[in-house]
Amino acid sequence: MTRTAPGAPRVTVRVPAKVNVQLAVGGRRPDGFHDLANVFLAVGLHDEVTAAPADTLTLTCTGPDADQVPLDDTNLAARAARALATHHGLDAHVHLHIAKDIPVAGGMAGGSADAAAALLACATLWGTDTSHAELLSLCAELGSDVPFSLVGGAALGRGRGELLEPLPVGGTFHWVFAVADGGLSTPAVYKECDRLRDATGRGATTADIPDPEPSPALLDALRTGDATALAASMSNDLQPAAVSLRPSLSATLAAGTEAGALAALVSGSGPTTAFLVADAEDAERVAAALRASGTCRTARTTVGPETGATVISNG
Ligand code: C5P
Repeated sequence: MTRTAPGAPRVTVRVPAKVNVQLAVGGRRPDGFHDLANVFLAVGLHDEVTAAPADTLTLTCTGPDADQVPLDDTNLAARAARALATHHGLDAHVHLHIAKDIPVAGGMAGGSADAAAALLACATLWGTDTSHAELLSLCAELGSDVPFSLVGGAALGRGRGELLEPLPVGGTFHWVFAVADGGLSTPAVYKECDRLRDATGRGATTADIPDPEPSPALLDALRTGDATALAASMSNDLQPAAVSLRPSLSATLAAGTEAGALAALVSGSGPTTAFLVADAEDAERVAAALRASGTCRTARTTVGPETGATVISNG
């Protein structure tokens, strides 16, 4: 798969997926984006991105959904390598290999994760000495969720999600993720959110919708590690839009709830659905029920918070 010489240096970065435990969406701004109060939690589904020297910029991908990953310049990881090279006046001569385990176009920031991982891998391979602040700013230019993929843990994202404030988390939360067949386009889900708001007659712009705010009860639940309190306060303003575009998600959400999940919600812009559960045993039980329900392609169990993009091999 690799196009580099055996023995050439290579750097591998491991990067987590995310779930939004709160996604409060403000009105559409004049630039088309939406202001958010976006409470991110990094969870233990991971991609790994390996960077190795090459004659030009090349990209390969393996994993169950690899055939859905674009291998041209539209891939966010390729754009990340180019952005870093441009920033330092270098040529983006690198082979990037993505070992993909995060659902593709699933609302778990898989593409953003690959971009953050590619930035860190290339910066390490090329020895660019890029500061953390510079990396964060390159991440923000690449996409609203990319900065969080770099830092991981839990964070409140303001602005379009890129202005991060780390959040304390007092425990480990157990999750089940139901993976749907096919993805949903994030811009399409935001557009549907606007359409549904317009349809109420109330309007969809920043003049019509109150500024989004984080829920104090939710931040408290994260701080104390209280899964029941977190379940009671989770919310996703994009959920009606995701369900409107993919009505079958209602059945998946109901199947997880019936199986005993503490809470069920669409992950980000979907179509992955997220189920908060009490412990590892409940996670296995709810995942088995979801798989048996026929309402999703598969179900995965994991925990959060997880650390952000991390170099796991260098040399
Ligand atoms: O920033 P990113 O490239 O991930 O955003 C993808 C699309 O999602 C944007 O072009 C926009 O349509 C929508 N979006 C939004 N408001 C945000 C984040 C994303 O409208 N805060």
